[in-house]
Amino acid sequence: MGFAPPRGTADLLPPASEAMRRLYEEAHALAVLYGYRYVETPAFEATEVFAHTSGESSDVVRKEMYTFEDKSHRSLTLRPEGTAPVVRAVVTSGASLPFKGYYVEAMWRYGRPQKGRLREFRQLGVEVLGTELPGADVETIVLGAEYLRRAGLRDVRLEVNSIGDASCRPAYRETLLAYLERNRGRLHDEHKERYADNPLRVLDCRDDACRDVAREAPRIRDHLCNGCREHFDGVLRGLDEAGLAWERVDTLVRGLDYYVRTAYEYVSPVLPEGQASLGGGGRYDGLAELLGLPATPGVGFALGLDRILLAMKEEGGGAAEAVCGVFVVTMGAEARRSGGELVRELRAAGVPAQMAFDERSLKGQLRTADRAGAGFVAILGEREVADGTVTLRRLADGVEETVPRGDVASRMTRPDA
Ligand code: HAM
Repeated sequence: MGFAPPRGTADLLPPASEAMRRLYEEAHALAVLYGYRYVETPAFEATEVFAHTSGESSDVVRKEMYTFEDKSHRSLTLRPEGTAPVVRAVVTSGASLPFKGYYVEAMWRYGRPQKGRLREFRQLGVEVLGTELPGADVETIVLGAEYLRRAGLRDVRLEVNSIGDASCRPAYRETLLAYLERNRGRLHDEHKERYADNPLRVLDCRDDACRDVAREAPRIRDHLCNGCREHFDGVLRGLDEAGLAWERVDTLVRGLDYYVRTAYEYVSPVLPEGQASLGGGGRYDGLAELLGLPATPGVGFALGLDRILLAMKEEGGGAAEAVCGVFVVTMGAEARRSGGELVRELRAAGVPAQMAFDERSLKGQLRTADRAGAGFVAILGEREVADGTVTLRRLADGVEETVPRGDVASRMTRPDA
């Protein structure tokens, strides 16, 4: 009996919730290390914020938006992605540019739930607004790669491409369209009908037939204007200088329409094929204008934190870290009073500590300590209270020693001392 969480959503409980919390903490620590400022935007926005930017032909806008009308008949949409809201918020605030921001937030997309694809999922996103310089692209790409490395992922491929801009893409689009028209019969059914809406998206289709067509298609790298070519050379040079390995993938185009020039993805081979992208991003120099705001170039990425946890599990790493700390176990009324004091002293010294809420047997207390995920138990009986000592037992291996009560906190902060 009872309710299950809505389809495509998940409850996060220990230890998964704690692994997610560690990803949040690492996100804050790393973003701040690179000089990015924390940003939050509303969970819902006017529908146009996404409809005008992600693109009418994108899956997100065509099929996946959680759109509803509020009681004043405004059309609102739960945030499916964070870039358009951050551009709206930062540019309208008049913040000085360039602005380097990051967010760690839930997103909602009404897709078909499967392994690595949820209707509610979490992203770490970073955005640099107000500069066209390739150094900004490089910094975001390096930050994302470093985050994945710190999360413990060993097997991540960085794919990069340049998809041109307003001065060279229209001509490439026509060339590609003519090629797709000639090869229409070979395309997957959906693209037979829709390829003209956004011909570039066919390049990224996972269907085998479309892939063959994409492989032989005219390549955008042969149609880039000088500005785009020089910009991309700058990005690749920066990645080389940073010592980051990359692979240029001509068919990488991304699923949202606002991108120009740089497009990139972090791909994991341990995830299911359709969900192998741990994260991705690129440059979106025209996005602010699509929102009716002053032109503001930008670049950034978002990483899917739920997919990162899945990949960590698939790689066999990311084992749950013991919730370290001390569970104080007492025997007798005097020891229980003294134990309460010890818990307060340890907490004041910054050592996570707790004890049972009620008096119970030694065995019962040890069981509670184990379930609570404690690293150590501190045992206080009559003898210890009289001696001013504590018996410390490490739960992982049962090793025990008796130490002066005043030393417990320093033992816990420097366990090897
Ligand atoms: P995106 O490629 O749509 O880009 O999403 C980025 C990442 O979010 C994906 O690579 C994936 O890891 C995760 N993700 C997306 N959809 C789902 C889902 N249904 N379930 C689980 N994870 C998912 C963006 O959102 C852009 N705003 C990125 C960006 C920032 N571009 C520039 N700045």
